[in-house]
Parts: sequence; C-alpha cells; structure tokens
Amino acid sequence: MAKTVRVKSFQLIARDIADVDVHLLHVLSIGVGWPHRPADWEFLRQVGQGIVAVDDIGRVFCSAMWFLQGEDLATIGLVITTPRAQAQGAGRWLMEEVMERCKGRNLTLNSTKAAYPLYLSLGFEKEATVFLHGGILSTLPAAARDHGLDELPTTQIEELADYDTEAFGVNRSAVLVQLSKRSVTCVLRRSDKVVGYAMRRQFGRGHVIGPIVASNDEDAILLVGWHLPALKDGYVRIDTREDTSPFAEFLTQIGLPTTSTTMTMSKGRRFLNRSDASPWVYGLAAHALN
Ligand SMILES: CC(C)(COP(=O)(O)OP(=O)(O)OC[C@H]1O[C@@H](n2cnc3c(N)ncnc32)[C@H](O)[C@@H]1OP(=O)(O)O)[C@@H](O)C(=O)NCCC(=O)NCCS
Repeated sequence: MAKTVRVKSFQLIARDIADVDVHLLHVLSIGVGWPHRPADWEFLRQVGQGIVAVDDIGRVFCSAMWFLQGEDLATIGLVITTPRAQAQGAGRWLMEEVMERCKGRNLTLNSTKAAYPLYLSLGFEKEATVFLHGGILSTLPAAARDHGLDELPTTQIEELADYDTEAFGVNRSAVLVQLSKRSVTCVLRRSDKVVGYAMRRQFGRGHVIGPIVASNDEDAILLVGWHLPALKDGYVRIDTREDTSPFAEFLTQIGLPTTSTTMTMSKGRRFLNRSDASPWVYGLAAHALN
C-alpha cells in the first residue's frame, strides 16, 4: 500500500465580503486568535467594504477590508489568511486587489508583526507604534468632579465633526455616526465648545473605549474616567499611540497594561500630523478604522 499521498492544490476566488455568512468570517478571525464576535464583523461590514477568497465550496480562506474616510483616505484592516493557507501568496494577492479598489486615495493601516514585511514590500511606510492596552478593570480612579463632561445623544453626533476632523485629519462623520449608534458617547465642553469626546461600545471579550479625542492628556484621562464606572470588573480595551505619556501611565495604573503592539503605516500622504495643543486621537476607534 502506498505510504504517501499527493494532495491537489486548489484555486481561491475573490468574493464580496458582504455575500458570505458572517460565521465564516468569525471562524477566520478566531483562527488567528483575534477577539471579534460576529456582531463586530457585522458592524465592520456596515461601515466598510471588503473581499474574501473562497474555495469552490464556499469556504473562506482570506479576508481584507477597506474603509473610505473623507474624500481621499482609506483605512485598511481585517487582513487575514487562515493559518493552513498562509505563505502561499494569498495575502499579497488580496492586498493588491484592495489597493486597486482604493486607487487614488491615501492609505493607512495598523500592521501586525506577521504582516509587516508584506506591507513594506507594497510601499507602506512606518509612522508610529500602537499600544494595545487591555485587562479586567478592577480599580476605579477617584471620581472626577464635574468638568463639563456630558453624555451626547446619537442625534447630536454632528457636533463633534469639526473637532474630530482637526484631530483625525479628514472628516469621518459617516463612520462616527455609525459608531455612535452602538456606543455611549461622552463629550467634554468648555465655554460651550467641544474640547474632547470619547465613545465606548461592546467589542470582543468586553468593551473598547474609542475613539478618544482630546487636546491634552488630562482631558483624555477625564474622558476615559467618565466611562470606567460602567465597565468595572469587565474586560476593557484601549488602543493608543501614546507611549510614556501620563495618559499611557494612567491606563497601566487602572489595570490595562500593554498586551501587544502594532505599527501604523501609510502609503501616499503621511497620516499622523500632531501639533502642540491641537486635538489629537488618544484612542483609536478600532484597529481597522484608526
Ligand atoms: C499577515 C498575513 C495576512 C499574510 O498572509 P499570507 O497569505 O500568508 O501572505 P503571503 O503568502 O501573500 O505572503 C506575503 C509576504 O509575507 C511574508 N510572509 C508570509 N508568510 C511568511 C512566513 N511564514 N515567514 C516569513 N515571511 C512570511 C513574505 O514576506 C511574503 O512575501 P513574498 O511574497 O515576497 O514571499 C497572515 O500571515 C495572517 O493572517 N496573519 C495573522 C493575522 C494578521 O496578523 N493579519 C495582519 C493584520 S495587519
């Protein structure tokens, strides 16, 4: 009896991500250890577009998504190849498809270590490290006195648009409106002017706080502090590019250490442009949304 067998290789074809069962996407992300729930995938499909690579019986082997933000930017994310199909060219093929569909736009993404060589070879350049903070929130900081913090109803989200655009670089109101529908939003006002905001929503094993947009560390800390009592004893995640700042120290003090890092990269115009005392994105909306 023969002791070996030749397994025929098979072809993958590209499909619109909107056309596949969300549970297949969930299996894909679970397979690489990511925390997304089916509901998280559903939300991402609502705000973005994507492609998957499937075999001839509809099994999903790879995914990649892009999110149009403002007139000339796209953020890219959810780039996954299932482990048993990795290192065979599928990731590069899907990324080339995505770049073709985003032609004419500046691109940005947050790269894992596994994907870094791929993005470098596609012309992306490194901009900053992202620190993924997470943990069970066991300690609450002393409650802040009233500093002009208020809950903002979804119907008033447009109030944040100008302030957010200054921080993010392009007007991403459409994404913010969708985010706000599944978030609790806290706004910080001084003299009736918006000077910061932060949203929290369910994600993965618990909650994510993001976006967090403020003009200084103190205000960013106030905004996060407003959300914390509702999250006590649950898993909380915050993705930030702050490294040794008071904001980053605060996260560690409340029991949210850095669990891993990724790298913000861009192709085309530089994405991150911080200037003193201007609004700044302290917490990412989502890894794929930036
Ligand atoms: C990153 C990832 C999507 C790459 O997908 P893939 O289908 O394996 O990618 P490809 O086979 O097209 O390889 C692309 C490049 O990655 C690199 N690469 C892929 N597998 C590698 C391996 N095992 N060791 C070293 N380099 C490897 C090579 O540089 C390759 O370049 P080449 O075309 O010049 O050989 C995949 O590893 C993955 O899903 N990882 C887990 C999830 C993740 O980190 N996603 C990225 C989010 S930003």
